[in-house]
Amino acid sequence: MSENITIMQGLSKGEKYVALIPQLIALTEGEDDLIANAGNIIAALKETFSFFWIGVYFVKEKKGKQVLLLGPFQGPPACVQIEKGRGVCGSAWDTKQSIIVDDVDQFPGHIACSVFSKSEIVVPLIKNNIVCGVIDVDSKLLSDFDDIDRKYLEEIALLISKMI
Ligand code: SME
Repeated sequence: MSENITIMQGLSKGEKYVALIPQLIALTEGEDDLIANAGNIIAALKETFSFFWIGVYFVKEKKGKQVLLLGPFQGPPACVQIEKGRGVCGSAWDTKQSIIVDDVDQFPGHIACSVFSKSEIVVPLIKNNIVCGVIDVDSKLLSDFDDIDRKYLEEIALLISKMI
């Protein structure tokens, strides 16, 4: 296992993801603890892309009800529990689909954890056809996420899902 992440300067966003993913695999090899590995993956993504906020939520039972519960993240403190169907995260859980939001103010029911967040991407963690959590990324810029982020964050979601 290596704790070092090396991303060369001057790469495009897609090239950075391509360079990063094998390093995420190496970073988590030999460790089966979900929180430790998810924490390192989220930290490596934050280091590489300087996202405003990035984190995972995991589906957990709280007071007899399933919710998305905040897991490892990087950035300002965020809301702890999200119900199914609520906000971008709860909608990605409900629909089992990645969601890109160019302008969070235009997304009905968006949960604003920070006034600085302007656009967002949420990718579900799916295991055995069941959503077990989501990766959530926020940007201070409008329209900051596209199909390149979707494609590679879905690959990274698969990597995390295998550890659940
Ligand atoms: N904006 C999200 C809530 C989580 S925070 O952005 C970290 C949503 O609408 O689901």
